[in-house]
Amino acid sequence: MADVEHTIGLLLGTEDDWPRAFESLLRRLGTVTAADGRTHRTRPVRVTIEPFNLRDKPQHELVIDRLAYWYYHPREWLKKIALMDGVYLLNSPFTFQSMEKHAAYCAMMRLGLKVPETVLVPFKNPLDNSRWAYTAARYNEPFDLEATAASIGYPLYMKPYDGGAWVGVSKIRNVDELHAAYDASGERLMHLQASVEDYDVFARSLTIGPETMVMRFRPDQPMHTRYEVDHHFLSADAGDEVVTISRLVNAFFRWEFNSCESLVRGDDVHPIDYANACPDVALTSLHYYFPWAMTALLRWTVFCVVTGRRMRLDTDLAGYFAVADDPDRSYQEKLAGYRELADRYFEVDRYREFCDEHLSDVDEIVYDWVTSEEFRSLLRETVRATYPVHEHEKFLAHFGGLIDAWIRDQGR
Ligand SMILES: Nc1ncnc2c1ncn2[C@@H]1O[C@H](COP(=O)(O)OP(=O)(O)O)[C@@H](O)[C@H]1O
Ligand SMILES: [Mg+2]
Repeated sequence: MADVEHTIGLLLGTEDDWPRAFESLLRRLGTVTAADGRTHRTRPVRVTIEPFNLRDKPQHELVIDRLAYWYYHPREWLKKIALMDGVYLLNSPFTFQSMEKHAAYCAMMRLGLKVPETVLVPFKNPLDNSRWAYTAARYNEPFDLEATAASIGYPLYMKPYDGGAWVGVSKIRNVDELHAAYDASGERLMHLQASVEDYDVFARSLTIGPETMVMRFRPDQPMHTRYEVDHHFLSADAGDEVVTISRLVNAFFRWEFNSCESLVRGDDVHPIDYANACPDVALTSLHYYFPWAMTALLRWTVFCVVTGRRMRLDTDLAGYFAVADDPDRSYQEKLAGYRELADRYFEVDRYREFCDEHLSDVDEIVYDWVTSEEFRSLLRETVRATYPVHEHEKFLAHFGGLIDAWIRDQGR
């Protein structure tokens, strides 16, 4: 029996791969002895959706949410447990709306980052609201779409202000494509954004707490080969900048589980998609990097519950703006300032110390798990659930090979 038990809630949609992985790893971890000498056990439970009284007390200390972006009932439950019960959430539900790319673009531009020129255009089609005709007739300024696009320059991207998964994203090369895409946008609110052409690298980073993995991404490839296994595709400076921007945006909005996309051209890092608070962590997307993601999720959530880290619902934007507005700082010095603020928010030093002292066997636990039959059956079942029958064998070999490469690279 552990002295203290912590319950982590998993609020899930259709995924079963990483939740099973996470549950296995927590089981294998067993108890952790903390600095006070007490033993702690962390128990995962899957959250169910049901009516809740606003004064109910939840059993969870921390909840990993993967659903609230789409389902409003659990979203409101998250707000309740964060406000009333002090439950730790990895992403603040109060800045959730900023998962709209739009707010993240605004924040990053305000902080001086190299976000491409972006314009928000009004809806193409009127909203289904009886008062709209009156408002539109009175206040909607007619605008010249072609002139707006020309001010950004071609090619450009038209994409939803709150999008995800490439839905409604199109590359626009000329006036005809511009009108076709705008006409098709209907009631979706769209950004026009300058295209970053001829970039050298598409860097996609996944951040969990203070851990960031920057991966080389190939958007033109099918999902299972989008993440390339490559360890040296960015200069040290560009790599560091991508990490800093990822942590900065997260600390700024109080997100701790987010993925970010940057296009790197020469020495310039251009962020284009920095608000994916339900990031893809599928085994069949991350493959080689999946053990890393599970390790980071395990370490960070255990750190939070065992040390009693409190979630911060308030933000401290003024500190970031002060760095942004400091006329004596160069771009590099501003980045360093942001990094310091973000690292402080994530308690990087205390976290590292905790991992060294209390979670030093996690690498071995993860290694034993990845090399176990339990992991192979997870892989098999995930492939079966993801692909049509005639592709099972091919994908099992493909992912099996990538996992074998991870095992080899551990050098054990
Ligand atoms: N400004 C841009 N320059 C170049 N490519 C872009 C730009 N914006 C989007 N893209 C391309 O379109 C894809 C989808 O756009 P993104 O903003 O990431 O939307 P989503 O949230 O749907 O992933 C990107 O992965 C990238 O390949
Ligand atoms: Mg994207």
